[in-house]
Amino acid sequence: MAWSLLIRNGMVIDGTGAPVERADVAVEGERIAAVAPRLLGEAGRSIDATGHYVTPGFIDVHSHSDLFYLGCPAAESKIRQGCTTEVVGMCSFSPAPVHPARRDTVRAWAGGIGARLQIDWETFAQYLDRLRAARPSINIVHMVGHGALRLAAIGPDARAATPDELRVMERLLAEALDAGAFGYSTGLVYPPSVYGSTDELIALSKSMASRGGLYFSHIRGEAATLEAAIAEAIRIGEAGGVGVQIAHVKAAGPENWGKMDRVLRMIDEARARGLDVTGDAYPYNAGSTKMDNLLPPWVHDGGVQKLLERLADRPARRKILEDCLIDGERWRTPMGTLGFDQIFVATCSRPELEGLDLAQLARKTGTTPTEALLNLVEQERAGVSMVVFSQSEDNVAKVLGHPAIMVGSDSLGLSAGPGPHPGKPHPRMYGTFPRVLGVYAREKKLFSWETAVNKMTGMPAGKLRLNDRGLVRPGFAADLAVFDPVAVKDAATYADPHRHPTGIPYVVVNGAVVVDQGRMNSAGTGRVLTPA
Ligand code: ZN
Ligand code: CU
Repeated sequence: MAWSLLIRNGMVIDGTGAPVERADVAVEGERIAAVAPRLLGEAGRSIDATGHYVTPGFIDVHSHSDLFYLGCPAAESKIRQGCTTEVVGMCSFSPAPVHPARRDTVRAWAGGIGARLQIDWETFAQYLDRLRAARPSINIVHMVGHGALRLAAIGPDARAATPDELRVMERLLAEALDAGAFGYSTGLVYPPSVYGSTDELIALSKSMASRGGLYFSHIRGEAATLEAAIAEAIRIGEAGGVGVQIAHVKAAGPENWGKMDRVLRMIDEARARGLDVTGDAYPYNAGSTKMDNLLPPWVHDGGVQKLLERLADRPARRKILEDCLIDGERWRTPMGTLGFDQIFVATCSRPELEGLDLAQLARKTGTTPTEALLNLVEQERAGVSMVVFSQSEDNVAKVLGHPAIMVGSDSLGLSAGPGPHPGKPHPRMYGTFPRVLGVYAREKKLFSWETAVNKMTGMPAGKLRLNDRGLVRPGFAADLAVFDPVAVKDAATYADPHRHPTGIPYVVVNGAVVVDQGRMNSAGTGRVLTPA
């Protein structure tokens, strides 16, 4: 027998959760051809995996790389972690569909941080064609963003959809599913998704239920309203007849940390009723998003231009302070009530400010933390991101260890060298998967290697009904990761985030060796996947 690729002498973790077994893995073209001990035969390429685990390529079930693919199709920071598939179009954001009269609005909304979207498409199908033409190195599962649906059908206004507008959104969602979307996502703290009612989301879910569409939910608040927001997401799935994925499950703000047990019980109870409710998490106690999300929803009404006008207006600034500033020293946000030393500038146009917390920024600029915050968002025209330490380490482990939780990085794929490589982004962009393996499986022994791998492969593949990915099994796509269980380790830190992990020497995407002895080949062998 002659294979195109033979990975010899490794220990195979197949992705189902079943125990590790010593086996060789043979690949023919884009598919796994055989998995068995001591496979004989010639191979075009042979890799010795002695002392290494051979696993399915990881599926990042929550990613925002779609905002970068067209400029950065290599997605190196993801692939170097062992990822071979990303689920994008998350948290209400997707680059399509686009109303031709609102291209600028979509560009300002979706392209906030470093991304330079040249929008020359309208429909989801046209956009996916552009994505295929960009020859991504990673496989892509795309959701359509509820924010994009709303911008296309309604615009950025803070109001309910009319019955006609709801029908337009349903039609645009159906078109996206026809083109290859797997469902839709919300970001119910982000404008304009935040303006959608529960009934609107149930109607959209019902309209895709018979087609197996999935609802991915960044819920309506991860802090004060956490339990009600979880209940809403479950209700949308139940009344809409669709599977639900709760994004980056967390309790934000110390005053809410005690709610996590109840939240996980709500998920268990929904599953016990037969509902397909699952979630994802990343292995860090800090989150990251655009800094303007520290401002209350009314400030965003009408889009970025309106936001900037309000920031230039004294009475509006005073009203923001009245709404958010507590005792002169803490800030009430959708991410809980936070001290100014828990909020860090991640990426903006001025490198000297990146990595400072808001208290430090205030000292540096000779003003108060609140003025420093409002000034920065205004000066950067809302194009500034932040890292926010809002969660407890105990909860991070509790959530990651829960049987209905998978691993999602909630990050962008970046590449070193030319292209976007800015600032001090959250280290999860480079470190999520090796950190789960190295810290949570090896060091903390939170779960077995097999369970850790299942949360990154078979479990998300099952949720997405990817029937030929996510397992090491003959006939499946040859998406594989090879890592050293002793050495696998994340290297990215908050202070120095642009660092690839160690201990992951090989990554195979559709049969092509994309990471080879720890070096990246931008093979462009990723596919835009379509639902079964
Ligand atoms: Zn989100
Ligand atoms: Cu997200």
